[in-house]
Amino acid sequence: MNQNRLQDKVAWISGGTSGIGEATARLFAEEGACVAVVGRRIQLCQNIASEIESTGGRAIAVQCDVAVEQQVQASIEQTVEAFGRLDIVINNAGMVDIGMLHEYDDARFEHVMAVNVKSIFYSLKHAYPHLRKQKCSYVVNNGSISSFVGQRATPAYTTSKGAVLSLTRSIAIDYASIGLRCNCVCPGITDTPMLREHLNATPDPEETLRQRLRRVPLNRALQPHDIARNILYLSCEDSAGVTGTSVIIDGGYLATAEWDTADDPQAKGNDQ
Ligand SMILES: NC(=O)c1ccc[n+]([C@@H]2O[C@H](COP(=O)([O-])OP(=O)(O)OC[C@H]3O[C@@H](n4cnc5c(N)ncnc54)[C@H](O)[C@@H]3O)[C@@H](O)[C@H]2O)c1
Repeated sequence: MNQNRLQDKVAWISGGTSGIGEATARLFAEEGACVAVVGRRIQLCQNIASEIESTGGRAIAVQCDVAVEQQVQASIEQTVEAFGRLDIVINNAGMVDIGMLHEYDDARFEHVMAVNVKSIFYSLKHAYPHLRKQKCSYVVNNGSISSFVGQRATPAYTTSKGAVLSLTRSIAIDYASIGLRCNCVCPGITDTPMLREHLNATPDPEETLRQRLRRVPLNRALQPHDIARNILYLSCEDSAGVTGTSVIIDGGYLATAEWDTADDPQAKGNDQ
């Protein structure tokens, strides 16, 4: 339910054109924020921004490859020019590169680290002069269950998501004195284009998903909105006092060493 929790706040949201980023942009706008929908493909950004505006929200489309510092800087400046301030930075853009480490070359590893980790450094660096003007400001990074555990054939991704959690703590400590709180969300299996791309690389995507969900006590894929609601929590004073930590949204995946929903007589299945 809309409670205007972000009234008059300005949010920069990377990867805002699909999945979790798109859900976050829409939810933030519903809560009263002015939203910069940041992405590489300007037409997609414009589509989301126009839809938000057509339902009474405020949004702009901003083109940016988060792996390129000058583009991150320009996108933040564009946001402040449009809305006059900046309160919230959501480092959501991310990528996976599937492969074994011995098959990787330097460029592949570097690129994943640039998109998933260095982008946070760039956005903090260039948002800092604006965030420090606010009494309260917020940085929310998108980690993963891979921030805590390994995953098959995604060495750069898991490394990068471990780093997202570490960087979250560093930012929280170093900028607490300016009223900035920094946290990360760590999603589990979430039904987005990224997950679908991953599943589609397997012979039977639906069966692969079913098999994976057997290890999730809630026995369902999370929806982008589930993650967006937790990003919202970390981007307003509902989470006052919370900094340098992570909210794991994984349907219980990390809570258990062994689990198989088929063994659970009370399993409800995909009931939500
Ligand atoms: N879907 C899941 O199961 C899952 C689980 C854990 C973590 N995550 C994290 O959630 C975040 C969002 O992913 P999603 O699942 O919504 O998938 P998604 O593919 O819908 O979103 C990723 C977004 O990042 C953007 N992006 C990628 N590289 C970029 C770049 N260089 N510059 C700007 N934008 C770029 C993509 O265009 C896309 O909009 C990612 O950081 C991902 O690692 C997802």
